[in-house]
Amino acid sequence: MKALILSGGHGTRLRPLTYSQQKQLIPVANKPVLFYAIEDVIEAGIHNIGIIVGPNAEQVKETVMSREWDAKIEFIYQGEPKGLAHAILVAREFLGDEDFVMYLGDNILREGIVRHKKHFEENDFDASILLQEVPNPQQFGVAELSEDGKTIKRLIEKPKVPPSNLALVGIYFFKPIIHEAVRNINPSWRNELEITDAIQWLIDHGYKVGWTKVTGWWKDTGKPEDLLDANRLILDDIETDIKVITKARIHGRVVIEGGTEIDENTVIKGPVVIGKNCRIKNAYIGPYTSIGDNVIIENTEIEDSIVLEGSEIRNAGRIVESLIGRGVKIINGTSHPFGRKLVIGDNSRLIL
Ligand code: DAU
Repeated sequence: MKALILSGGHGTRLRPLTYSQQKQLIPVANKPVLFYAIEDVIEAGIHNIGIIVGPNAEQVKETVMSREWDAKIEFIYQGEPKGLAHAILVAREFLGDEDFVMYLGDNILREGIVRHKKHFEENDFDASILLQEVPNPQQFGVAELSEDGKTIKRLIEKPKVPPSNLALVGIYFFKPIIHEAVRNINPSWRNELEITDAIQWLIDHGYKVGWTKVTGWWKDTGKPEDLLDANRLILDDIETDIKVITKARIHGRVVIEGGTEIDENTVIKGPVVIGKNCRIKNAYIGPYTSIGDNVIIENTEIEDSIVLEGSEIRNAGRIVESLIGRGVKIINGTSHPFGRKLVIGDNSRLIL
Protein backbone atom coordinates (compact mmCIF):
# COMPACT_ATOMS: atom_id res chain seq x y z
CA MET A 1 0.00 0.00 0.00
CA LYS A 2 1.11 3.57 -0.72
CA ALA A 3 0.18 6.82 1.05
CA LEU A 4 -0.84 10.14 -0.44
CA ILE A 5 -0.57 12.95 2.09
CA LEU A 6 -2.05 16.32 1.13
CA SER A 7 -0.05 19.40 2.01
CA GLY A 8 -1.25 21.86 -0.61
CA GLY A 9 -3.98 24.48 -0.40
CA HIS A 10 -3.93 28.11 0.73
CA GLY A 11 -4.99 27.79 4.40
CA THR A 12 -7.05 31.00 4.23
CA ARG A 13 -8.76 30.32 7.56
CA LEU A 14 -5.37 30.44 9.31
CA ARG A 15 -4.26 33.84 8.02
CA PRO A 16 -2.06 35.73 8.83
CA LEU A 17 0.08 32.71 9.85
CA THR A 18 -0.38 31.14 6.42
CA TYR A 19 0.86 34.18 4.50
CA SER A 20 4.39 33.09 5.31
CA GLN A 21 3.91 29.44 6.19
CA GLN A 22 2.11 26.47 4.66
CA LYS A 23 -0.67 25.54 7.11
CA GLN A 24 0.34 21.91 7.57
CA LEU A 25 3.77 23.10 8.79
CA ILE A 26 2.42 25.06 11.76
CA PRO A 27 3.66 23.22 14.85
CA VAL A 28 1.40 21.70 17.48
CA ALA A 29 3.30 20.78 20.66
CA ASN A 30 6.42 21.90 18.74
CA LYS A 31 5.95 19.43 15.86
CA PRO A 32 4.57 20.38 12.42
CA VAL A 33 1.02 19.07 12.00
CA LEU A 34 2.11 17.31 8.79
CA PHE A 35 4.61 15.15 10.73
CA TYR A 36 1.79 13.52 12.71
CA ALA A 37 0.31 12.24 9.42
CA ILE A 38 3.69 10.96 8.15
CA GLU A 39 4.31 9.18 11.46
CA ASP A 40 0.85 7.53 11.42
CA VAL A 41 1.38 6.24 7.89
CA ILE A 42 4.83 4.79 8.70
CA GLU A 43 3.47 3.25 11.91
CA ALA A 44 0.89 1.44 9.75
CA GLY A 45 3.74 -0.15 7.77
CA ILE A 46 3.50 2.08 4.69
CA HIS A 47 6.93 3.15 3.44
CA ASN A 48 6.12 4.66 0.07
CA ILE A 49 4.70 8.14 0.54
CA GLY A 50 3.72 10.85 -1.94
CA ILE A 51 3.17 14.33 -0.54
CA ILE A 52 0.96 16.71 -2.52
CA VAL A 53 2.43 20.22 -2.47
CA GLY A 54 1.02 23.50 -3.72
CA PRO A 55 1.83 27.19 -3.26
CA ASN A 56 4.70 26.73 -0.75
CA ALA A 57 6.18 23.58 -2.28
CA GLU A 58 9.82 24.34 -1.40
CA GLN A 59 9.00 25.08 2.24
CA VAL A 60 7.17 21.78 2.64
CA LYS A 61 10.01 19.82 0.96
CA GLU A 62 12.67 21.49 3.11
CA THR A 63 10.79 20.91 6.36
CA VAL A 64 9.98 17.27 5.63
CA MET A 65 13.50 16.48 4.45
CA SER A 66 15.07 18.13 7.52
CA ARG A 67 14.30 14.88 9.31
CA GLU A 68 15.06 11.26 8.50
CA TRP A 69 12.05 9.03 7.83
CA ASP A 70 11.78 5.29 7.53
CA ALA A 71 10.11 5.77 4.14
CA LYS A 72 10.69 6.82 0.56
CA ILE A 73 9.08 10.24 0.18
CA GLU A 74 8.21 11.86 -3.14
CA PHE A 75 6.71 15.32 -3.65
CA ILE A 76 3.95 15.80 -6.20
CA TYR A 77 3.15 19.32 -7.39
CA GLN A 78 -0.54 20.12 -7.59
CA GLY A 79 -0.41 23.88 -8.19
CA GLU A 80 -3.77 25.47 -7.50
CA PRO A 81 -5.85 23.48 -4.97
CA LYS A 82 -8.65 22.23 -7.19
CA GLY A 83 -9.98 19.69 -4.73
CA LEU A 84 -9.13 16.48 -2.89
CA ALA A 85 -10.15 14.31 -5.86
CA HIS A 86 -8.01 16.54 -8.12
CA ALA A 87 -5.01 15.68 -5.93
CA ILE A 88 -5.60 12.00 -6.80
CA LEU A 89 -5.71 12.86 -10.52
CA VAL A 90 -2.38 14.68 -10.20
CA ALA A 91 -0.83 11.77 -8.29
CA ARG A 92 -1.95 9.14 -10.85
CA GLU A 93 1.56 8.17 -11.93
CA PHE A 94 2.90 7.93 -8.36
CA LEU A 95 -0.06 5.83 -7.18
CA GLY A 96 0.14 3.34 -10.04
CA ASP A 97 -2.19 0.38 -9.56
CA GLU A 98 -1.73 -0.03 -5.83
CA ASP A 99 -4.13 0.46 -2.94
CA PHE A 100 -3.46 3.66 -1.03
CA VAL A 101 -4.45 5.71 1.97
CA MET A 102 -5.13 9.39 1.39
CA TYR A 103 -4.40 11.44 4.51
CA LEU A 104 -5.18 15.17 4.71
CA GLY A 105 -2.05 16.81 6.09
CA ASP A 106 -3.97 19.11 8.44
CA ASN A 107 -5.72 16.25 10.27
CA ILE A 108 -4.46 14.71 13.53
CA LEU A 109 -5.88 11.41 14.74
CA ARG A 110 -4.83 10.28 18.20
CA GLU A 111 -5.19 6.53 17.63
CA GLY A 112 -3.34 6.50 14.29
CA ILE A 113 -4.54 4.44 11.30
CA VAL A 114 -3.43 0.86 12.04
CA ARG A 115 -6.89 -0.42 13.04
CA HIS A 116 -8.60 1.36 10.14
CA LYS A 117 -6.14 -0.01 7.56
CA LYS A 118 -6.73 -3.54 8.87
CA HIS A 119 -10.50 -3.12 8.54
CA PHE A 120 -10.13 -1.95 4.91
CA GLU A 121 -7.86 -4.85 4.00
CA GLU A 122 -9.69 -7.63 5.83
CA ASN A 123 -13.06 -6.75 4.33
CA ASP A 124 -11.79 -6.32 0.80
CA PHE A 125 -13.52 -2.95 0.46
CA ASP A 126 -13.09 -0.81 -2.66
CA ALA A 127 -12.92 2.20 -0.36
CA SER A 128 -13.17 2.72 3.37
CA ILE A 129 -13.74 5.97 5.24
CA LEU A 130 -13.43 7.07 8.87
CA LEU A 131 -16.36 8.71 10.64
CA GLN A 132 -16.77 10.61 13.85
CA GLU A 133 -19.78 12.18 15.53
CA VAL A 134 -19.40 15.96 15.68
CA PRO A 135 -21.56 18.80 17.03
CA ASN A 136 -21.05 20.89 13.84
CA PRO A 137 -21.52 18.54 10.84
CA GLN A 138 -22.22 21.51 8.51
CA GLN A 139 -18.46 22.16 8.46
CA PHE A 140 -17.49 18.70 7.14
CA GLY A 141 -18.34 16.02 4.65
CA VAL A 142 -21.25 14.10 6.22
CA ALA A 143 -22.31 10.45 5.85
CA GLU A 144 -25.84 9.10 5.83
CA LEU A 145 -25.96 5.42 6.76
CA SER A 146 -28.50 2.80 5.71
CA GLU A 147 -31.36 2.01 8.14
CA ASP A 148 -29.44 -0.94 9.65
CA GLY A 149 -26.35 1.29 10.00
CA LYS A 150 -24.20 -1.21 8.11
CA THR A 151 -23.60 0.55 4.81
CA ILE A 152 -23.17 4.10 3.58
CA LYS A 153 -26.09 5.44 1.59
CA ARG A 154 -24.96 8.95 0.82
CA LEU A 155 -22.09 11.40 1.35
CA ILE A 156 -22.62 15.16 1.22
CA GLU A 157 -19.96 17.84 1.40
CA LYS A 158 -20.70 20.57 3.99
CA PRO A 159 -24.51 20.21 3.92
CA LYS A 160 -26.68 23.09 5.13
CA VAL A 161 -29.11 20.53 6.61
CA PRO A 162 -26.96 17.55 7.64
CA PRO A 163 -28.65 14.13 7.45
CA SER A 164 -26.57 12.95 10.45
CA ASN A 165 -23.83 14.12 12.81
CA LEU A 166 -21.29 11.70 11.29
CA ALA A 167 -18.41 13.72 9.83
CA LEU A 168 -15.88 12.32 7.39
CA VAL A 169 -12.43 12.33 8.91
CA GLY A 170 -9.74 13.36 6.40
CA ILE A 171 -8.35 9.84 6.01
CA TYR A 172 -9.54 7.51 3.21
CA PHE A 173 -8.50 4.07 1.97
CA PHE A 174 -8.86 3.28 -1.74
CA LYS A 175 -8.44 0.54 -4.29
CA PRO A 176 -7.35 1.71 -7.78
CA ILE A 177 -11.01 1.89 -8.92
CA ILE A 178 -11.02 5.38 -7.34
CA HIS A 179 -9.07 6.60 -10.41
CA GLU A 180 -12.08 5.85 -12.58
CA ALA A 181 -14.33 7.62 -10.07
CA VAL A 182 -12.27 10.84 -9.98
CA ARG A 183 -12.28 10.97 -13.80
CA ASN A 184 -16.07 10.76 -13.82
CA ILE A 185 -17.11 13.55 -11.47
CA ASN A 186 -17.67 17.25 -12.07
CA PRO A 187 -16.52 20.25 -10.02
CA SER A 188 -18.83 21.18 -7.12
CA TRP A 189 -20.48 24.51 -6.25
CA ARG A 190 -17.13 25.57 -4.73
CA ASN A 191 -15.45 24.63 -7.99
CA GLU A 192 -13.50 21.72 -6.52
CA LEU A 193 -13.36 18.06 -7.47
CA GLU A 194 -14.75 16.68 -4.20
CA ILE A 195 -13.58 13.36 -2.81
CA THR A 196 -17.07 12.88 -1.34
CA ASP A 197 -18.49 12.94 -4.92
CA ALA A 198 -15.90 10.39 -6.06
CA ILE A 199 -16.81 8.04 -3.18
CA GLN A 200 -20.51 8.60 -3.95
CA TRP A 201 -19.73 7.54 -7.53
CA LEU A 202 -18.32 4.26 -6.14
CA ILE A 203 -21.47 3.71 -4.06
CA ASP A 204 -23.76 4.50 -7.00
CA HIS A 205 -21.86 2.04 -9.23
CA GLY A 206 -22.17 -0.83 -6.76
CA TYR A 207 -18.66 -0.80 -5.30
CA LYS A 208 -18.13 -1.79 -1.68
CA VAL A 209 -17.52 1.22 0.57
CA GLY A 210 -16.86 0.47 4.23
CA TRP A 211 -16.42 2.67 7.27
CA THR A 212 -14.94 2.68 10.75
CA LYS A 213 -15.73 4.93 13.66
CA VAL A 214 -12.92 6.86 15.28
CA THR A 215 -12.34 6.23 18.97
CA GLY A 216 -10.51 8.93 20.86
CA TRP A 217 -10.04 12.38 19.45
CA TRP A 218 -9.59 13.67 15.92
CA LYS A 219 -8.81 17.25 14.91
CA ASP A 220 -8.96 19.05 11.60
CA THR A 221 -6.59 21.96 12.32
CA GLY A 222 -8.18 24.31 9.79
CA LYS A 223 -8.83 27.23 12.17
CA PRO A 224 -6.84 28.89 15.01
CA GLU A 225 -9.21 27.48 17.68
CA ASP A 226 -8.62 23.99 16.27
CA LEU A 227 -4.84 24.39 16.54
CA LEU A 228 -5.15 25.43 20.19
CA ASP A 229 -7.46 22.50 20.79
CA ALA A 230 -5.08 20.05 19.10
CA ASN A 231 -2.25 21.52 21.19
CA ARG A 232 -4.20 20.80 24.41
CA LEU A 233 -4.98 17.25 23.32
CA ILE A 234 -1.39 16.42 22.36
CA LEU A 235 0.04 18.02 25.52
CA ASP A 236 -2.31 15.87 27.58
CA ASP A 237 -0.18 12.88 26.53
CA ILE A 238 3.38 14.21 26.96
CA GLU A 239 5.88 12.87 29.47
CA THR A 240 8.38 14.94 31.42
CA ASP A 241 11.75 15.37 29.72
CA ILE A 242 13.88 18.23 31.00
CA LYS A 243 17.25 18.50 29.24
CA VAL A 244 18.57 21.53 31.14
CA ILE A 245 19.42 22.48 34.71
CA THR A 246 17.15 25.18 36.08
CA LYS A 247 16.05 26.49 39.45
CA ALA A 248 12.63 27.44 38.11
CA ARG A 249 9.62 26.03 39.99
CA ILE A 250 8.25 23.27 37.80
CA HIS A 251 4.95 21.42 38.39
CA GLY A 252 3.34 18.70 36.30
CA ARG A 253 4.57 17.24 33.02
CA VAL A 254 7.05 19.49 31.26
CA VAL A 255 9.44 19.09 28.30
CA ILE A 256 12.36 21.51 28.03
CA GLU A 257 14.87 21.15 25.19
CA GLY A 258 18.62 21.79 25.33
CA GLY A 259 20.21 25.23 25.40
CA THR A 260 17.20 26.85 27.06
CA GLU A 261 17.79 29.05 30.10
CA ILE A 262 15.05 29.59 32.67
CA ASP A 263 15.70 31.69 35.78
CA GLU A 264 14.69 30.89 39.35
CA ASN A 265 11.89 33.49 39.37
CA THR A 266 9.94 31.57 36.75
CA VAL A 267 7.07 29.19 37.48
CA ILE A 268 6.07 26.50 34.96
CA LYS A 269 2.89 24.47 35.33
CA GLY A 270 2.56 21.62 32.86
CA PRO A 271 1.63 20.25 30.53
CA VAL A 272 4.09 22.52 28.74
CA VAL A 273 6.72 22.07 26.02
CA ILE A 274 9.57 24.53 25.56
CA GLY A 275 11.94 24.31 22.58
CA LYS A 276 15.69 24.85 22.21
CA ASN A 277 17.70 27.96 23.09
CA CYS A 278 14.88 29.93 24.72
CA ARG A 279 15.46 32.62 27.39
CA ILE A 280 12.75 32.74 30.03
CA LYS A 281 12.95 35.19 32.94
CA ASN A 282 10.57 36.12 35.71
CA ALA A 283 7.68 34.50 33.87
CA TYR A 284 4.75 32.19 34.44
CA ILE A 285 4.26 29.51 31.78
CA GLY A 286 0.87 27.93 32.44
CA PRO A 287 -0.82 24.67 31.38
CA TYR A 288 -1.26 23.80 27.70
CA THR A 289 1.47 26.07 26.38
CA SER A 290 3.92 25.19 23.59
CA ILE A 291 6.90 27.46 23.08
CA GLY A 292 9.05 27.02 19.97
CA ASP A 293 12.85 27.37 19.64
CA ASN A 294 14.70 30.65 20.27
CA VAL A 295 11.84 32.37 22.07
CA ILE A 296 12.38 35.08 24.71
CA ILE A 297 9.79 35.54 27.45
CA GLU A 298 10.32 38.05 30.23
CA ASN A 299 8.06 39.46 32.95
CA THR A 300 5.01 37.89 31.33
CA GLU A 301 2.38 35.28 32.18
CA ILE A 302 1.33 33.00 29.35
CA GLU A 303 -1.07 30.08 29.42
CA ASP A 304 -2.99 27.82 27.03
CA SER A 305 -1.13 29.19 24.01
CA ILE A 306 1.22 28.39 21.12
CA VAL A 307 4.28 30.59 20.56
CA LEU A 308 6.26 29.89 17.40
CA GLU A 309 10.02 30.13 17.02
CA GLY A 310 12.02 33.32 17.37
CA SER A 311 9.34 35.39 19.08
CA GLU A 312 10.02 37.86 21.86
CA ILE A 313 7.53 38.68 24.60
CA ARG A 314 8.49 41.17 27.32
CA ASN A 315 6.44 42.89 30.04
CA ALA A 316 3.32 41.79 28.22
CA GLY A 317 1.02 41.17 31.20
CA ARG A 318 -1.07 38.03 30.91
CA ILE A 319 -1.56 36.20 27.60
CA VAL A 320 -4.13 33.38 27.26
CA GLU A 321 -5.58 31.23 24.44
CA SER A 322 -3.26 32.84 21.89
CA LEU A 323 -1.54 31.73 18.73
CA ILE A 324 1.62 33.77 18.22
CA GLY A 325 3.49 33.43 14.93
CA ARG A 326 7.21 33.33 14.15
CA GLY A 327 9.50 36.28 14.91
CA VAL A 328 6.70 38.22 16.62
CA LYS A 329 7.56 40.95 19.15
CA ILE A 330 5.10 41.75 21.95
CA ILE A 331 6.72 44.34 24.18
CA ASN A 332 5.24 46.72 26.69
CA GLY A 333 7.73 49.58 26.30
CA THR A 334 8.20 52.74 28.33
CA SER A 335 9.19 55.22 25.61
CA HIS A 336 7.13 58.31 24.78
CA PRO A 337 4.56 58.83 23.44
CA PHE A 338 2.68 56.17 25.46
CA GLY A 339 0.06 54.05 23.74
CA ARG A 340 -0.15 50.83 21.77
CA LYS A 341 2.29 50.78 18.84
CA LEU A 342 1.24 48.07 16.43
CA VAL A 343 2.67 46.54 13.28
CA ILE A 344 0.07 43.87 12.59
CA GLY A 345 -0.19 41.67 9.49
CA ASP A 346 -3.34 41.43 7.37
CA ASN A 347 -6.17 39.41 8.95
CA SER A 348 -4.57 39.45 12.41
CA ARG A 349 -6.77 39.37 15.51
CA LEU A 350 -5.99 41.40 18.63
CA ILE A 351 -8.34 41.03 21.58
CA LEU A 352 -7.09 43.54 24.19
O1 DAU B 1 -10.94 17.38 7.68
C1 DAU B 1 -12.01 16.61 7.20
C2 DAU B 1 -12.70 17.28 6.04
O2 DAU B 1 -11.70 17.57 5.03
C3 DAU B 1 -13.81 16.37 5.48
O3 DAU B 1 -14.85 16.22 6.40
C4 DAU B 1 -14.35 16.93 4.17
O4 DAU B 1 -15.26 16.04 3.60
C5 DAU B 1 -13.20 17.21 3.18
O5 DAU B 1 -13.68 17.81 1.99
C6 DAU B 1 -12.17 18.12 3.82
O6 DAU B 1 -12.77 19.39 4.04
P1 DAU B 1 -11.95 20.74 4.25
O7 DAU B 1 -12.79 21.91 3.84
O8 DAU B 1 -11.40 20.77 5.63
O9 DAU B 1 -10.77 20.59 3.22
P2 DAU B 1 -9.62 21.61 2.93
O10 DAU B 1 -9.94 22.42 1.75
O11 DAU B 1 -9.25 22.33 4.21
O12 DAU B 1 -8.43 20.63 2.53
C7 DAU B 1 -8.00 19.59 3.35
C8 DAU B 1 -6.49 19.44 3.25
O13 DAU B 1 -6.06 19.09 1.95
C9 DAU B 1 -5.69 20.66 3.62
O14 DAU B 1 -4.56 20.21 4.35
C10 DAU B 1 -5.27 21.26 2.32
C11 DAU B 1 -5.15 20.07 1.41
N1 DAU B 1 -5.57 20.31 0.01
C12 DAU B 1 -6.84 20.75 -0.22
C13 DAU B 1 -7.30 20.93 -1.50
C14 DAU B 1 -8.72 21.39 -1.77
C15 DAU B 1 -4.70 20.05 -1.03
O15 DAU B 1 -3.54 19.65 -0.79
N2 DAU B 1 -5.14 20.24 -2.31
C16 DAU B 1 -6.41 20.65 -2.60
O16 DAU B 1 -6.74 20.79 -3.79
